Amino acid sequence: MKYRSQKVAYWFFATCMLLFSLQIIYGFIMGFAHMGMDGLHNIIPFHTARATHTNLLVMWLLAGFMGSAYYIIPEEAERELVSTKLAYLQLISFVAVGITAVIGFHFGWWEGRKFLEIPRPLDYLVVVNVLLFIYLIGATIWTGKRKTTTAMVLFFGLLTAALLYLPGMIPTDNQTMDSYWRWWVVHLWVEGVGN
Ligand code: HEM
Repeated sequence: MKYRSQKVAYWFFATCMLLFSLQIIYGFIMGFAHMGMDGLHNIIPFHTARATHTNLLVMWLLAGFMGSAYYIIPEEAERELVSTKLAYLQLISFVAVGITAVIGFHFGWWEGRKFLEIPRPLDYLVVVNVLLFIYLIGATIWTGKRKTTTAMVLFFGLLTAALLYLPGMIPTDNQTMDSYWRWWVVHLWVEGVGN
């Protein structure tokens, strides 16, 4: 570790591991439910466990991505992150939105769209959060000593990943259109840009 601000990555990775562990717990709840051992049904019905399991997956993956970017970019740009405090704020708000979403699922607050269950108001907070992340990474690269190919590819990958989250928020009463936009996020986002 060459730069002090890279330490922020540690907290992203720790969060990533915690969320991953929670995802596995919900996986087991579903696995047991499939075998007929569904004692938690009244508190955690199957659809709640499923939404929590898959959304926690998206969350830990993003936490891992973000932590990696905060670790790699200072070394690529040869400077500290433009603001370590904002990076911690970004982590805390990311976790706050995620926890609110997971608690919400247990009280029936969800959109019911597979993988995009997060309710709309929280979607907007995700957008603000990701914009802050992109700003911190972009500003570090643009004010850095070097603009390497690695940094550029990473930045534009992250930017397009952020943009492709938006189609899932296009309001429509038409279920076919909704499925179409949902497909954009799930496939273009996860399989196109994420990979
Ligand atoms: C011991 C660990 C795990 C258990 C017991 C478990 C259990 C399950 C079960 C029972 C389902 C099916 C839900 C249904 O019938 O609708 C499921 C779905 C899913 N799990 Fe896991 N899981 C585990 C780990 C993971 C991990 C590590 C990942 C990803 C990194 C993951 C990703 C998914 C996804 C994406 C789905 C949804 C699949 C779909 O919609 O077709 N799971 N999991």
